Amino acid sequence: MQLTRDSTLVAPTGAMPRTADAGTLAWYDRMAETYSEIVSRDAPDDDLKAFIRLLDPGAGPILDWGCGPGNTAAMLASLGFEGHATDASQKMAELAAGLGIRVRVEPFENLSSTPRYQGIWSNFGLSHICIEHVPPLLSLAANALLPGGILHLGMTTWREGFEDGDRSGRDCFGLIFTQLHPDTLRRLLTSVGLEVLSLRETSFEMMLSGGKTGCALVLARKTATP
Ligand SMILES: C[S@@+](CC[C@H](N)C(=O)[O-])C[C@H]1O[C@@H](n2cnc3c(N)ncnc32)[C@H](O)[C@@H]1O
Repeated sequence: MQLTRDSTLVAPTGAMPRTADAGTLAWYDRMAETYSEIVSRDAPDDDLKAFIRLLDPGAGPILDWGCGPGNTAAMLASLGFEGHATDASQKMAELAAGLGIRVRVEPFENLSSTPRYQGIWSNFGLSHICIEHVPPLLSLAANALLPGGILHLGMTTWREGFEDGDRSGRDCFGLIFTQLHPDTLRRLLTSVGLEVLSLRETSFEMMLSGGKTGCALVLARKTATP
């Protein structure tokens, strides 16, 4: 599956897509404990600190969307924020619940579009949905934010061994992944009423699936209703 940067990757109309992919979620169920051991931290990293600086514990709940083992939601709760979390992997949700997090086992599209959250932390969950599902899901996130609300988006931008450009594929473990060029991300976020406040590009070695990957860490503010 491939879409060029000039193609019709546009914000959505109509019914929400079904994003849950059996192969991807089976892998996360199987690898949940190992994943948790690798990614969990005791203290916020610079990206989480930058997100927190834009939020206020009294200004409404925060959603950890595709929360994995719940480590981020737990750190937010320890700082006095009302944290909610969702993930479509049962095992990941069990780990998050074990940290005392209120977590729902559900795919991204089950998020209510009613504006409710002052912040949504979406860290590499949307890298595991098909490329054509990204615009409607970003639009849903924008809807679910309160006016002025903040989205953190961690998104894959390229992967070693795969052609560059906006595209989806399956890796050698059968996981769906989507990579989007930073320019595409900026355009999509703007098109759903989110103002990009910062976009940091970096790369890292993937410890579980192997190979290098590039990513963008974005902070965006809701400025309009999509
Ligand atoms: C790369 S992990 C990121 C986890 C966490 N946000 C973090 O930063 O460590 C991707 C997460 O997205 C979840 N996920 C994948 N597809 C999903 C879907 N369609 N709906 C909801 N969650 C999904 C996986 O179960 C996994 O926990």
